[in-house]
Amino acid sequence: MGRMDHVPRAPAFTLRRLHSVDDRALAGLVDVLVDCVEGGASVSFMQPLTRERALAFWRGVASDVAAGRRALLVAEDAAGLCGTVQLVLDLPENQPHRADLCKMLVHRRARRRGLGEALMRGAETLARDCGRTLLVLDAVTDGDAARLYARLGWVRVGDIPDYALFPQGGLCGTTYFYRRVGAGPR
Ligand SMILES: CC(C)(COP(=O)(O)OP(=O)(O)OC[C@H]1O[C@@H](n2cnc3c(N)ncnc32)[C@H](O)[C@@H]1OP(=O)(O)O)[C@@H](O)C(=O)NCCC(=O)NCCS
Repeated sequence: MGRMDHVPRAPAFTLRRLHSVDDRALAGLVDVLVDCVEGGASVSFMQPLTRERALAFWRGVASDVAAGRRALLVAEDAAGLCGTVQLVLDLPENQPHRADLCKMLVHRRARRRGLGEALMRGAETLARDCGRTLLVLDAVTDGDAARLYARLGWVRVGDIPDYALFPQGGLCGTTYFYRRVGAGPR
């Protein structure tokens, strides 16, 4: 047994905040979104999601990021962009301390190795950096993402049945969660 056997391996991905989204990042974001929708994730789009529609969506996000209306995190591994999450910052003037967390996406090739957890922790740090202390999100009831959020300590508010369609059709419920992120060390 070698000396390094008990040293944890460094994560095989890095997280980065994008303040502007270039064409290369756009292509990677399209890949991740198309892959997630092909895999059956209920994230606003129906199958089949063409690259053109996905690109139109990400161009809109890019313009919000450039204008400071959204904050965008991406994860990259050796093969390129493999995950992302966003904070929506342009909320009504009576909610300056809050952000909505959305479009948390991990490419199927990069799942189940801690990237989802890392993106969520990164999003919390990003929220603090943006002066936001309360985060809200919704996720398919009892899905992989809802399990992740509950595991990370997000508070489950409640379920709304028949909220949206799965990308292949069929109704799914959504569960709302919130998390306070400004309360100092956890
Ligand atoms: C939900 C989602 C983001 C999770 O991403 P992920 O990178 O797989 O998340 P993690 O790796 O942190 O955790 C997922 C599972 O892998 C496990 N895991 C983490 N690291 C692991 C490792 N090194 N070895 C084995 N398992 C591991 C976790 O314990 C967790 O297990 P569980 O699902 O049985 O509870 C991903 O499934 C996804 O993108 N889904 C489609 C899009 C979607 O639904 N987004 C949410 C919108 S609200």
